[in-house]
Amino acid sequence: MSTTADDAPELATAAQERVVVLDFGGQYSQLIARRVRELGVYSELLPAHVGMEQLEQNPPQAIILSGGPASVYAPGAPELDERLLALGVPVLGICYGMQLLAHALGGNVQGADVGEYGRSDLTVTEPGTLLAGLPAEQPVWMSHRDTVYEAPPGFTALASSTSSPVAALEDNDRKIYGIQYHPEVVHTPHGQAVLRRFLQDISGLSLTWSAANIVDEQVRRIREQVGDKHVICGLSGGVDSSVAAVLVHKAIGDQLTCVFVDHGLMRNNEGEQVIKAFRDQYHIPLVAVDAEDRFLARLAGQTDPETKRKIIGGEFIRVFEEEARKLGDIDFLVQGTLYSDVIESGGGPGSSTIKSHHNVGGLPDDLQFELVEPLRTLFKDEVRAVGLELGLPERLVWRQPFPGPGLGIRIVGQEVTKERLQILRDADAILQEEIRAADLYRELWQSFCVLPAIRTVGVQGDERTYGYAVGIRAVTSDDAMTADWARLPYDLLERVAARMMGELRDVNRVVLDITSKPPGTIEWE
Ligand code: XMP
Repeated sequence: MSTTADDAPELATAAQERVVVLDFGGQYSQLIARRVRELGVYSELLPAHVGMEQLEQNPPQAIILSGGPASVYAPGAPELDERLLALGVPVLGICYGMQLLAHALGGNVQGADVGEYGRSDLTVTEPGTLLAGLPAEQPVWMSHRDTVYEAPPGFTALASSTSSPVAALEDNDRKIYGIQYHPEVVHTPHGQAVLRRFLQDISGLSLTWSAANIVDEQVRRIREQVGDKHVICGLSGGVDSSVAAVLVHKAIGDQLTCVFVDHGLMRNNEGEQVIKAFRDQYHIPLVAVDAEDRFLARLAGQTDPETKRKIIGGEFIRVFEEEARKLGDIDFLVQGTLYSDVIESGGGPGSSTIKSHHNVGGLPDDLQFELVEPLRTLFKDEVRAVGLELGLPERLVWRQPFPGPGLGIRIVGQEVTKERLQILRDADAILQEEIRAADLYRELWQSFCVLPAIRTVGVQGDERTYGYAVGIRAVTSDDAMTADWARLPYDLLERVAARMMGELRDVNRVVLDITSKPPGTIEWE
């Protein structure tokens, strides 16, 4: 079911305004695409080697060339296909993108003795169209060694910086622009203004892409795809599957049935919350399967992390398939695939971060359903905006990620039993309560407890105890690929520990995990 980023042009209709960001392997390429969307224009991130035919058939309203690690002179460096400029749409090159334009069009690009990394000061000498109205001196974020020494014929050099004689350039007649710095990062305070200038004033785009448009557009597409057929959706209680389900229900009503498999490895009351929200509030047909006993029976005696994951994943698929069969005539399956998954499973040359998708809740390729993927064009923050637009409660929309195998992989190195699940659930509930009370929940990528396979000696009320040690794991992250341990306030930690040891009979020690990723993973198993 993996899809490549090359499929992406099909996602936009011909009538829709769209910007293509060509990815030359830069660290911030995805961020450029997101910033464009934040400004209200639908954007697609495509690998730099995307076929010109695709772009010629369905030309975007503007093109942005991203940065990248190569030098324009290096053998095998990505080149500029000049047919791109013949499309007649405005082009903005950023960093490597600008060097590529300058090099291809007859400017002078060379390796500098000193690279420019981090903050730099931009001096605007001739604002032109691109930089008009912006301060003559402004801080910008740079990350490059090659430098443009001379703009190509027909171009105006607009600005310089400490180490870049030409740090911005334009040919306003041909609508070709370049900036050496990164407008997409927060350290370039006027970055969004430059992107807005390019999109709105130069490319004439209307900046109207918003969560409400997304909902209307997706509802139309889902109706078109599904017709009067029947659709099934696996709900996990997480934000992606919830938003996908509500969106599909808005489009086709009771042709959708949701299936919620409660494997008994959820947190406190999570199962009931899902059932309540979807069945009672949204009146979406929902089959809830209480499969706790089945999962626990299969997990009996198992302590190895990979074995546990495989058992939980395999059993999940079996239960889901059984339910789907009972429902009979189903043609479509809803999947909450996000745009970042589409990009990550595609990837062009030079893009170095390919995430392994260990989605245990995922379903196998040979299931006989056609996929409905209403979130396929959306970044996570847009999914949240759509969720709120659809009236989903904030608590659900802002839920931290929770792994498919649930608490099964947080009972560490030991058998998963009902008793241990209850201890972990109670500990986790205390941690979440205190983190929410301290207003830190949204700042953390994830916060949770683990229950390792050790007992420790304690003394409580003059008595020797031999109880569980609970581990607290809280991390900050942007995408789960890297993470840092969260510096939770000491008084919060103290409250959490005191409550756990006071309220939970079996817990007599609380420890804090201060491992970043890498080298640790976020989950313990
Ligand atoms: P790790 O532990 O590999 O996790 O740093 C990265 C992110 O993925 C989540 N995770 C999973 N999510 N099924 C999922 O749907 C899984 O099997 C799974 N394992 C880990 C984890 O919670 C973190 O957000």
